[in-house]
Amino acid sequence: MKDLKKKILYSREIIDRRVKELADAISHDLEGKEVVLIGVLNGAFIFLADLARCLKVSHSVDFTRLASYGSGLVSSGNITVTKDIETDIEDKEVVIVEDIIDTGITMAFLRERLEKRRPASIRICTLIDKKDRREITIDAAYVGFDLDEGFVVGYGLDFDEKFRCLPDIYVIEE
Ligand code: IMP
Ligand code: MG
Repeated sequence: MKDLKKKILYSREIIDRRVKELADAISHDLEGKEVVLIGVLNGAFIFLADLARCLKVSHSVDFTRLASYGSGLVSSGNITVTKDIETDIEDKEVVIVEDIIDTGITMAFLRERLEKRRPASIRICTLIDKKDRREITIDAAYVGFDLDEGFVVGYGLDFDEKFRCLPDIYVIEE
Protein backbone atom coordinates (compact mmCIF):
# COMPACT_ATOMS: atom_id res chain seq x y z
CA MET A 1 0.00 0.00 0.00
CA LYS A 2 2.73 2.48 0.90
CA ASP A 3 4.19 2.35 -2.60
CA LEU A 4 0.83 3.00 -4.26
CA LYS A 5 1.60 5.24 -7.22
CA LYS A 6 -0.27 8.50 -7.57
CA LYS A 7 0.15 11.69 -9.53
CA ILE A 8 -1.04 15.19 -8.84
CA LEU A 9 -4.30 16.14 -10.54
CA TYR A 10 -5.40 19.41 -8.89
CA SER A 11 -2.86 21.47 -6.96
CA ARG A 12 -3.79 23.29 -3.75
CA GLU A 13 -3.61 26.62 -5.63
CA ILE A 14 -6.09 25.44 -8.24
CA ILE A 15 -8.37 23.98 -5.55
CA ASP A 16 -8.25 27.24 -3.55
CA ARG A 17 -9.22 29.30 -6.56
CA ARG A 18 -12.08 26.98 -7.49
CA VAL A 19 -13.43 26.81 -3.90
CA LYS A 20 -13.54 30.63 -3.83
CA GLU A 21 -15.46 30.66 -7.11
CA LEU A 22 -17.98 28.13 -5.77
CA ALA A 23 -18.40 30.18 -2.58
CA ASP A 24 -18.99 33.31 -4.66
CA ALA A 25 -21.67 31.56 -6.72
CA ILE A 26 -23.44 30.25 -3.60
CA SER A 27 -23.20 33.66 -1.90
CA HIS A 28 -24.69 35.30 -4.97
CA ASP A 29 -27.56 32.80 -5.33
CA LEU A 30 -28.52 32.70 -1.66
CA GLU A 31 -27.98 36.30 -0.62
CA GLY A 32 -30.23 37.28 2.29
CA LYS A 33 -31.51 33.71 2.81
CA GLU A 34 -31.27 31.37 5.78
CA VAL A 35 -28.65 28.90 4.63
CA VAL A 36 -27.68 25.56 6.18
CA LEU A 37 -24.57 23.78 4.90
CA ILE A 38 -24.76 20.03 5.37
CA GLY A 39 -21.40 18.32 5.04
CA VAL A 40 -21.21 14.63 4.25
CA LEU A 41 -18.64 12.99 6.51
CA ASN A 42 -15.88 12.09 6.29
CA GLY A 43 -14.89 13.08 2.78
CA ALA A 44 -16.26 16.64 2.75
CA PHE A 45 -14.80 17.97 6.00
CA ILE A 46 -11.83 19.79 4.49
CA PHE A 47 -13.76 21.10 1.48
CA LEU A 48 -16.57 22.35 3.73
CA ALA A 49 -14.15 24.08 6.09
CA ASP A 50 -12.58 26.03 3.22
CA LEU A 51 -15.86 26.71 1.42
CA ALA A 52 -17.62 27.96 4.57
CA ARG A 53 -14.83 30.44 5.30
CA CYS A 54 -15.17 31.95 1.81
CA LEU A 55 -18.97 32.35 1.95
CA LYS A 56 -20.34 35.85 2.19
CA VAL A 57 -23.84 34.77 3.28
CA SER A 58 -24.47 33.92 6.90
CA HIS A 59 -25.07 30.23 7.37
CA SER A 60 -25.05 27.42 9.87
CA VAL A 61 -23.13 24.17 9.50
CA ASP A 62 -24.21 20.62 10.22
CA PHE A 63 -22.98 17.17 9.24
CA THR A 64 -24.37 13.81 8.32
CA ARG A 65 -22.63 10.51 7.85
CA LEU A 66 -23.75 7.71 5.60
CA ALA A 67 -22.47 4.19 5.27
CA SER A 68 -22.78 2.07 2.18
CA TYR A 69 -21.96 -1.59 2.34
CA GLY A 70 -19.80 -2.86 -0.49
CA SER A 71 -16.24 -2.92 -1.67
CA GLY A 72 -15.44 0.52 -0.31
CA LEU A 73 -14.59 1.93 -3.74
CA VAL A 74 -18.10 2.04 -5.16
CA SER A 75 -21.52 2.48 -3.58
CA SER A 76 -23.47 -0.72 -3.15
CA GLY A 77 -26.82 1.02 -2.99
CA ASN A 78 -27.37 -0.26 0.54
CA ILE A 79 -27.11 3.01 2.40
CA THR A 80 -27.68 3.63 6.08
CA VAL A 81 -27.43 6.84 8.09
CA THR A 82 -24.85 6.51 10.83
CA LYS A 83 -25.07 10.19 11.87
CA ASP A 84 -28.07 12.38 11.23
CA ILE A 85 -28.13 16.18 11.11
CA GLU A 86 -29.29 17.94 14.26
CA THR A 87 -30.61 21.14 12.63
CA ASP A 88 -34.26 21.82 11.83
CA ILE A 89 -34.06 22.55 8.09
CA GLU A 90 -37.76 23.34 7.51
CA ASP A 91 -38.04 26.46 5.30
CA LYS A 92 -34.24 26.81 5.13
CA GLU A 93 -32.05 26.84 2.04
CA VAL A 94 -29.98 23.67 2.25
CA VAL A 95 -26.64 23.24 0.53
CA ILE A 96 -25.35 19.68 0.69
CA VAL A 97 -21.55 19.72 0.58
CA GLU A 98 -20.09 16.49 -0.81
CA ASP A 99 -16.60 15.44 -1.79
CA ILE A 100 -17.42 13.51 -4.94
CA ILE A 101 -20.48 12.21 -6.79
CA ASP A 102 -19.94 8.94 -8.59
CA THR A 103 -22.96 6.69 -9.27
CA GLY A 104 -25.17 9.30 -7.59
CA ILE A 105 -26.75 6.71 -5.30
CA THR A 106 -25.51 8.35 -2.09
CA MET A 107 -26.67 11.85 -3.07
CA ALA A 108 -30.05 10.66 -4.34
CA PHE A 109 -30.62 8.87 -1.04
CA LEU A 110 -29.62 11.90 1.04
CA ARG A 111 -31.59 14.35 -1.03
CA GLU A 112 -34.76 12.31 -0.79
CA ARG A 113 -34.30 11.92 2.94
CA LEU A 114 -33.80 15.66 3.50
CA GLU A 115 -36.70 16.62 1.22
CA LYS A 116 -39.10 14.99 3.69
CA ARG A 117 -38.14 17.69 6.22
CA ARG A 118 -39.54 20.38 3.93
CA PRO A 119 -36.61 22.74 3.41
CA ALA A 120 -37.22 25.76 1.17
CA SER A 121 -34.68 24.33 -1.29
CA ILE A 122 -31.88 21.80 -1.58
CA ARG A 123 -28.80 22.43 -3.68
CA ILE A 124 -25.85 20.12 -4.02
CA CYS A 125 -22.28 21.41 -4.04
CA THR A 126 -19.71 18.78 -4.91
CA LEU A 127 -15.99 19.26 -5.20
CA ILE A 128 -15.72 16.59 -7.90
CA ASP A 129 -18.35 15.20 -10.26
CA LYS A 130 -17.90 11.93 -12.16
CA LYS A 131 -20.93 12.55 -14.38
CA ASP A 132 -20.22 9.71 -16.80
CA ARG A 133 -20.53 7.13 -14.05
CA ARG A 134 -24.05 8.02 -12.96
CA GLU A 135 -26.52 5.22 -12.31
CA ILE A 136 -29.16 7.57 -10.92
CA THR A 137 -30.05 11.02 -12.24
CA ILE A 138 -28.82 13.61 -9.80
CA ASP A 139 -27.48 17.04 -10.61
CA ALA A 140 -25.23 19.26 -8.56
CA ALA A 141 -25.85 23.00 -8.77
CA TYR A 142 -22.20 23.68 -7.93
CA VAL A 143 -19.35 21.52 -9.24
CA GLY A 144 -15.69 22.14 -8.52
CA PHE A 145 -14.19 19.80 -11.10
CA ASP A 146 -15.61 17.35 -13.64
CA LEU A 147 -13.71 14.09 -13.76
CA ASP A 148 -14.07 11.50 -16.52
CA GLU A 149 -12.15 8.66 -14.96
CA GLY A 150 -9.78 7.65 -12.20
CA PHE A 151 -9.81 7.28 -8.43
CA VAL A 152 -8.75 10.40 -6.58
CA VAL A 153 -7.39 11.04 -3.09
CA GLY A 154 -6.37 13.99 -0.95
CA TYR A 155 -8.14 17.15 0.26
CA GLY A 156 -10.55 14.99 2.27
CA LEU A 157 -10.85 12.14 -0.24
CA ASP A 158 -9.53 8.80 0.90
CA PHE A 159 -8.53 5.39 -0.34
CA ASP A 160 -9.29 2.98 2.48
CA GLU A 161 -9.08 5.88 5.00
CA LYS A 162 -5.65 6.90 3.73
CA PHE A 163 -4.44 10.11 2.05
CA ARG A 164 -7.32 12.31 3.31
CA CYS A 165 -5.08 15.04 4.62
CA LEU A 166 -2.89 15.58 1.56
CA PRO A 167 -3.36 19.25 0.63
CA ASP A 168 -3.51 18.53 -3.12
CA ILE A 169 -5.68 16.06 -5.04
CA TYR A 170 -3.99 13.06 -6.63
CA VAL A 171 -5.16 10.36 -8.99
CA ILE A 172 -4.16 6.80 -8.17
CA GLU A 173 -2.19 5.21 -11.00
CA GLU A 174 -2.98 1.62 -11.93
P1 IMP B 1 -21.82 7.35 -5.16
O1 IMP B 1 -22.95 6.96 -4.25
O2 IMP B 1 -21.46 6.24 -6.11
O3 IMP B 1 -22.07 8.64 -5.89
O4 IMP B 1 -20.54 7.46 -4.25
C1 IMP B 1 -20.01 8.61 -3.79
C2 IMP B 1 -19.00 8.28 -2.71
O5 IMP B 1 -18.05 7.28 -3.18
C3 IMP B 1 -18.18 9.49 -2.39
O6 IMP B 1 -18.77 10.25 -1.36
C4 IMP B 1 -16.86 8.88 -1.97
O7 IMP B 1 -16.90 8.56 -0.59
C5 IMP B 1 -16.76 7.62 -2.78
N1 IMP B 1 -15.91 7.84 -4.00
C6 IMP B 1 -16.30 7.73 -5.29
N2 IMP B 1 -15.27 7.99 -6.12
C7 IMP B 1 -14.21 8.27 -5.33
C8 IMP B 1 -12.84 8.64 -5.61
O8 IMP B 1 -12.38 8.77 -6.76
N3 IMP B 1 -12.05 8.89 -4.52
C9 IMP B 1 -12.50 8.77 -3.24
N4 IMP B 1 -13.77 8.44 -2.94
C10 IMP B 1 -14.62 8.17 -3.96
MG1 MG C 1 -18.30 10.54 0.65
